[in-house]
Amino acid sequence: MPRVQGYDIYHWPGQGQGLFLFNRELANTLIDMDDKHTWNKDFNTGVKFIDEQHKYFFNIVSLLKENLNAGVCKDSASRIFFSLAHYAEHFLIQEEIYLKDYSFPGLREHKNLHKEFIRRVIQFQVEYEKDVGETCRTMLVYLEEWFENHNLKHDKEAVDYFREKGL
Ligand SMILES: [Fe+2]
Repeated sequence: MPRVQGYDIYHWPGQGQGLFLFNRELANTLIDMDDKHTWNKDFNTGVKFIDEQHKYFFNIVSLLKENLNAGVCKDSASRIFFSLAHYAEHFLIQEEIYLKDYSFPGLREHKNLHKEFIRRVIQFQVEYEKDVGETCRTMLVYLEEWFENHNLKHDKEAVDYFREKGL
């Protein structure tokens, strides 16, 4: 892959060929954990590291939505993709480590859901090269569904299990 000034190649965790170019400057402005976006306290599970990653993800989705509405999705794509990579590389893996350490019975299925998430985001990246606007819209729908179905449901099962185990 050719070098592009100011850009680096990012390797997705666990994906041999999932590469994307990210802008170094934007990568330094990873989405942060502040409360800029309205976080509904009902989303809290009470397990700190889970709530942290859910909040982080929620901020990514909120930024994408804001930028899409403002018609500037293209400007923030590097930041969104890099933040999603950070979410996968840091938070999803952290969650898997906890699930493994606590012998969560649904570990394999849960890991497969994470893997599918990463595969889908890589696919969005490929689609993004062809059609920015459409990809931003379909990606937003997908990420919102992930928040609803995965973060608030599947992760909740894991949280209930952690609580049983006294975490
Ligand atoms: Fe999860």
